[in-house]
Amino acid sequence: MRKGGQFTERPEPLQSRATGKRPAGGGAIYNECMTRKSLTGLDLLLAEADRALRTLAAAAHPARPNPAADLPEPPLDDQARRHSAGLMRVNHAGEIAAQALYQGQALTARNADVRDSLRHASDEEVDHLAWCEERLRELDARPSLLNPLWYAGSFAIGALAGALGDRVSLGFVAETERQVEGHLHEHLERLPREDQRSRRILEQMKQDEVRHGESARAGGGAPLPGPVSALMRLTAQVMTRTAYWL
Ligand SMILES: [Fe+2]
Ligand SMILES: [Fe+2]
Repeated sequence: MRKGGQFTERPEPLQSRATGKRPAGGGAIYNECMTRKSLTGLDLLLAEADRALRTLAAAAHPARPNPAADLPEPPLDDQARRHSAGLMRVNHAGEIAAQALYQGQALTARNADVRDSLRHASDEEVDHLAWCEERLRELDARPSLLNPLWYAGSFAIGALAGALGDRVSLGFVAETERQVEGHLHEHLERLPREDQRSRRILEQMKQDEVRHGESARAGGGAPLPGPVSALMRLTAQVMTRTAYWL
């Protein structure tokens, strides 16, 4: 399982990182399903629909404070604000996709420890989702209208990666994080220099993604074939170019 950013052997009980307790309401359905005892297809469907709705429609609650919290709001002209908003909308959409990838991979994971590790990793990514959401609000911008599409597509890709076996699935995490790191580096170059609040968030995310990738590799992730990595890059490009505007 993953603790402190590490994939290790033994799982711990599923709990909210924000509260330290098992989530209430829809989370109870989900946790019930996590036992995987006498599960029906309907149980799984309800649990996944519940998680998707909470990711897409509810406010994300971070476990860690926003890394930009101590910085003042920079004076941005309209053009700079719109550009920052477009980039942060892309990053928010990427975090929606990250949630879906992890859930899809967890659904089809073969090993219970790996499945729990993936669920915990997705809990860690909630911080990124919440910080991007907050920054979009500050920039007076909305999230991508296509978030349900990014979630559905990423969930399907994650489920496929999981079905190919746990080593491939962890390798997929490692490759995804490697590409996300490159993408965040590019966004740090493109953000308006004065937008230090967005910068601070992306810098922290980049550090976290590097750690996630290293952890997946250390957990046994297999290198992916070149064409698969290229296809992943192409898919990410479609999302990043569209979410900037939509
Ligand atoms: Fe992330
Ligand atoms: Fe990550």
